[in-house]
Amino acid sequence: MAGDKDVPVDDVLEFPTDLAETPRHPRIALPGALFGGRRNSDGVEWGAQDDLTALATAMRNAPEAPEVKPLTARQIDAVMSRAARAAPLWRDTPVATRSTALRRAADLLEDNRAALMATLAREAGKTIDDGVAELREAVDFLRYYADEAEGICIPRILPGPTGEANRWQARGRGVFVTVAPWNFPLAIFLGQTAAALSVGNAVVAKPAPQTPRIAAQAVALLHRAGVPEDALILAPGGVEVGQALMTHPALAGVAFTGSTATAKAINRALADRDGAIVPLIAETGGVNAMIVDATALPEQVTRDVVASAFRSAGQRCSACRILYVQEDVADRMLEMIQGAAATLTLGDPMDPATDVGPIIDADALSRLTDHIAGHTPIWQGDAPDGLFLPPTIIELGRDEKLTQEIFGPILHVKRWKAGQIDRVLDEIAATGFGLTFGLHSRIDATIAHVTARATAGNVYVNRNQIGAIVGSQPFGGHGLSGTGPKAGGPLYLTRFVEEVVVSTDT
Ligand code: SER
Repeated sequence: MAGDKDVPVDDVLEFPTDLAETPRHPRIALPGALFGGRRNSDGVEWGAQDDLTALATAMRNAPEAPEVKPLTARQIDAVMSRAARAAPLWRDTPVATRSTALRRAADLLEDNRAALMATLAREAGKTIDDGVAELREAVDFLRYYADEAEGICIPRILPGPTGEANRWQARGRGVFVTVAPWNFPLAIFLGQTAAALSVGNAVVAKPAPQTPRIAAQAVALLHRAGVPEDALILAPGGVEVGQALMTHPALAGVAFTGSTATAKAINRALADRDGAIVPLIAETGGVNAMIVDATALPEQVTRDVVASAFRSAGQRCSACRILYVQEDVADRMLEMIQGAAATLTLGDPMDPATDVGPIIDADALSRLTDHIAGHTPIWQGDAPDGLFLPPTIIELGRDEKLTQEIFGPILHVKRWKAGQIDRVLDEIAATGFGLTFGLHSRIDATIAHVTARATAGNVYVNRNQIGAIVGSQPFGGHGLSGTGPKAGGPLYLTRFVEEVVVSTDT
């Protein structure tokens, strides 16, 4: 693994040529329908019907993933140069070969689910439920981009004047750097990386400093699946490594998921570089709101608010941060939400009985605790000792505003009066963020009005607002929440390619 030794610069580059000939794994028909009966190599079905106790046992028995040493900024030049030499070869590898490697990687992920979920639990505190969802998303990304790339990378002959042939082609840009967050250290890490690889970019992939082990396991599986080691290099490390990557002359594109502040810093670094203009795809955070009116179904609201605010310990960029509830039903709704949230079990992520795992690290926990200390929560659940934060509900006054993403299991609540829904929408829009948005209402005219005015990229009606499905609910926001295009959507790969037109006089 790259961090364990000096980075070789003189390897002989070897590229696979025969992967397109290998038989395809049976496809799962629907994105997000991964658990529709897939059998692993031992013939054991897994997914919705999986025996969670057996899975938990397999996870506990899985060996610790090996330690991953961070690179130093000085090693980055060798890493980027190696990827730059691989880039034209990978770009010229047939798209069918590249896609076959990604599909094989998807199969390998499924077959190694217990080991991967064990690392997700140990390194990122992912519960079994969260781990299953994350693995499913990662597999879906691999298969989705493998398919999409086959559509985009096929050259087309375009119409033109008589006597001229016009050949259009989309191809990899060169070396893409992907920068992943700790909260989806497998799915988002692999999604960005697979997208860049699928259309023929070499990738230098930087995981979050908190979660390098799962990234190393994912990269090893991609290599096993046929992605050449020089075309995909792991670059674990912190800020210095990130800065060295952004300023390297070989850089041709960046796909980043993380905070808005870091996205802006990367944007500035890219703007200040000498040489080519380098595109940035940034997916950042949100101050995600949900509006509930007096016609909403209380049981459904309760279930969806608890999932949206507290699942994954609120450590999802899609999570509900602020609930705007019509005052006529607010007391009853809050009572039900508190009752449901009180039943959540916090604890060991590998225990199938656990609903909510820990906070990622002590720094994050202390920032969340400080935020709570600045308010008087109207309700707080229980939490064991350790890196756990009890689910918390804070009510804000009419003139109080939530303007920053609070990345944990803290739900803010505001009441609104009948007839003032536009005021609420204005307040939400004024944050400048626009990632996810939820609405619970049983009035068609309200649904039409609110969804038309909502400023978020992903709008959810009468359901929870987390867990976008690849290929069905392309994910990503606007404004302070990101640049687009949406991950898992039909336009995503278009930002990872450069286009060429060859016009020939015939
Ligand atoms: N895509 C995830 C979700 O929708 C967040 O990153 O919850």
